[in-house]
Amino acid sequence: MARAGQVAGTATAARPTLPAPATRGGHTTQTAPTPQEAREGGAAPRKVAVVTGAGSGIGRAVAHALVAANWTVVLAGRRAEALAETARLVGHVDIEAPTIMTVPTDVTRPDEVDALFTAVRDRFSRLDLLFNNAGTFGKAAPLDELAYDDWRAVVDVNLTGAFLCAQAAFRTMKGQDPQGGRIINNGSISAHTPRPHSIAYTATKHAMTGLTKSLSLDGRPYQIACGQIDIGNAATDMTGRMQTGILQANGQMAVEPVMDAADVARTVVHMAALPLAANVQFATVLATNMPYIGRG
Ligand SMILES: NC(=O)c1ccc[n+]([C@@H]2O[C@H](COP(=O)([O-])OP(=O)(O)OC[C@H]3O[C@@H](n4cnc5c(N)ncnc54)[C@H](OP(=O)(O)O)[C@@H]3O)[C@@H](O)[C@H]2O)c1
Repeated sequence: MARAGQVAGTATAARPTLPAPATRGGHTTQTAPTPQEAREGGAAPRKVAVVTGAGSGIGRAVAHALVAANWTVVLAGRRAEALAETARLVGHVDIEAPTIMTVPTDVTRPDEVDALFTAVRDRFSRLDLLFNNAGTFGKAAPLDELAYDDWRAVVDVNLTGAFLCAQAAFRTMKGQDPQGGRIINNGSISAHTPRPHSIAYTATKHAMTGLTKSLSLDGRPYQIACGQIDIGNAATDMTGRMQTGILQANGQMAVEPVMDAADVARTVVHMAALPLAANVQFATVLATNMPYIGRG
C-alpha cells in the first residue's frame, strides 16, 4: 500500500495491441497523450477521472465503462493486486490506447489521499471527475452490540475517506485551468432508509448526502459540480448476502433481487458526460423488484 511519497503507478499493459507502458516521475501508465500533450498536438484531450474502490464491484464496472467512453482513469483502492486486475480487464476494451494508472491508496489516510491526487496532477495536469466510491458495509450487529471500533471503521472509510478524496479533488479542480470538474459521490438507498442492524452504514450514507449538498454549494463559484448516485442491490461482494438471504424489517430472512453493476456504471458515465453547466444532483438506481418501495 502506498505511503506518503511512495505512490507507485503500476504498469497495466495486458493487451498486446496496446502501446508499451511509459514511465514518468516514478509512475508507470499505459500510454496515451496527456491532456496537456493532446492540447499542444491539437487532438481532443481525454478527460481524466479518479475512481476509488476501483479494485472490485461498482468501482471496477465504472472504470471499465469510463475507459470505454474514452476517459483516462486512475484506479485507487488499498489492494494493488485488485487494481492491477481491474486494469487488466479494462485493458481489453477495444479502443485506441486507453490510459490507466493504478495508485494503491487507503482513503482513510490523509497522506495517501494527498499522494494520490499529487500523482494525478503530476501525470495528467488536471482532473475532470472523481467517482467517490470506496466504501464498506461494516459489521451487521444489533445497535446495542456494535463495538466502537466497528462503528469507527465504517465512519473512517465511508465518511472521512469520502471527505478527504472530495477535498483533494475540489482543491485540484479549483486550481486548474480551465477551472472546474465533477464529483460523483456513491451514496446508497441507505442514504434514505435503513436496513436492520446497519446504523454505521446508514448514518454514513445519510452523511454522504450532506457531503454532496455542501460540495454542490461550495463548488458553484469554481465550476465544480457534485452529484450523488444512490444504488440498491447491485451484484457485488458487498451484496452477497442479498443472494443468500438477508434480514428484513419484519424480522424474516429473504433473498433479494440484484442487478448488474454494469447498469450502475452506465448511469455514472451519463452523469459524468454532462457539460459542467448541467448536473444530475441525485440518481437512484436499484434492482427493480427489491423490497424498498412501498411495503415490500
Ligand atoms: N452493491 C450495492 O448494491 C451498493 C448499494 C449501495 C451503495 N453501494 C456503494 O458502492 C460502493 C462500492 O461498493 P461495492 O458494492 O462495489 O462493494 P465492494 O466490491 O466491496 O467495493 C468496495 C470497494 O471499496 C474499497 N475500499 C474499502 N475500504 C477502502 C479504503 N480504506 N481505502 C480505499 N478503498 C477502500 C475496496 O477496495 P480495497 O479493499 O482494495 O481497499 C473495494 O474495492 C460502496 O461505497 C457502497 O456503499 C453499493
